[in-house]
Amino acid sequence: MRRTLVLLGGIGLLALLLTPATGSASSAARAAQVRAQTAQDTLAFGRTLYQQGCVSCHGLDPAGPSNYPTVPSLADVGGASAVDWVLRTGRMPWRSTVGPAIERGKPKYNESETRALSLYVGEAVGDSDLPTVDIGQGDVKRGRDLYAQACAACHGMNGAGAALGGANIAPSLRDVAPLDTAEAMRIGPGVMPVFEGGDYDAAGVNSIAAYVHSLKTGADDVGGAPIGGKGPVPEGFVAWVIGLGALILVAKRIGGKT
Ligand code: HEC
Ligand code: HEC
Repeated sequence: MRRTLVLLGGIGLLALLLTPATGSASSAARAAQVRAQTAQDTLAFGRTLYQQGCVSCHGLDPAGPSNYPTVPSLADVGGASAVDWVLRTGRMPWRSTVGPAIERGKPKYNESETRALSLYVGEAVGDSDLPTVDIGQGDVKRGRDLYAQACAACHGMNGAGAALGGANIAPSLRDVAPLDTAEAMRIGPGVMPVFEGGDYDAAGVNSIAAYVHSLKTGADDVGGAPIGGKGPVPEGFVAWVIGLGALILVAKRIGGKT
């Protein structure tokens, strides 16, 4: 019984191994054709989505001027990486014209739509590269040091984020995916600088992303009350309410004594 099974398994395996060998030349050519066709389809799909969802603000040609002075042209905001980032984090399409910064939202596009839009805009502006990141290859301790030097001033050592003055907010990093970190470093959105090359090569990015990821679990918390990691706005609010409440109590006390 057992031997029959092994034999049958062997025959099956042999059949599997032999199948691709039949007519290999033509099937390789066909595969290349299918790949080219798929890339073409993806670009066409991306163009359609762009025309439906982005043209009204960013202009007919992603590499050309936008339609409003308050909307940036997509020519130099970071190519495919920027599009991937704004779509995955639900920042675009833009929902309101008021508010301090582009906030995260519910993504409007699924994975293949996001890929198509990123590819289409990337091709149009000549920057189709998407970063890769592998926090398994990162060194959390080195990431922590780099983060302390380069990121903590704005995002806080514990990643809670901070209001930067004006309309600028460095968002909380407690909910970001490793790819968000890699993309943000490559794009430099808003007032955030671009971090590329030198300490910020692939190994540096993996390490910083690994440190940022560790903030999620609080494994490397260095103090500060996270208040649920909700970011600078609720934290500022809590500071106001508790701080003001305490002041009022003290004032009442002093007032009562005199
Ligand atoms: C209603 C107008 C509007 C629509 C529609 C819109 N955008 Fe935007 N987009 C903006 C504005 C305004 C900004 C600048 C936001 C800021 O920096 O505060 C922006 C910025 C961007 C940025 C740069 C982000 C950064 O921080 O560097 C990208 C990339 C982008 N949009 C992509 C898209 C894509 C892709 C679509 C279509 C799916 C889209 N946008 C649809 C208004 C719009
Ligand atoms: C000068 C202040 C500043 C510095 C320094 C800075 N950032 Fe930022 N960062 C910002 C601002 C502002 C935004 C939001 C931009 C926007 O929404 O358009 C941001 C956005 C991000 C985001 C996207 C978060 C999200 O919700 O998708 C990540 C990730 C990020 N920064 C990581 C980093 C890392 C890692 C470093 C250090 C290598 C760093 N930042 C350094 C100001 C800064």
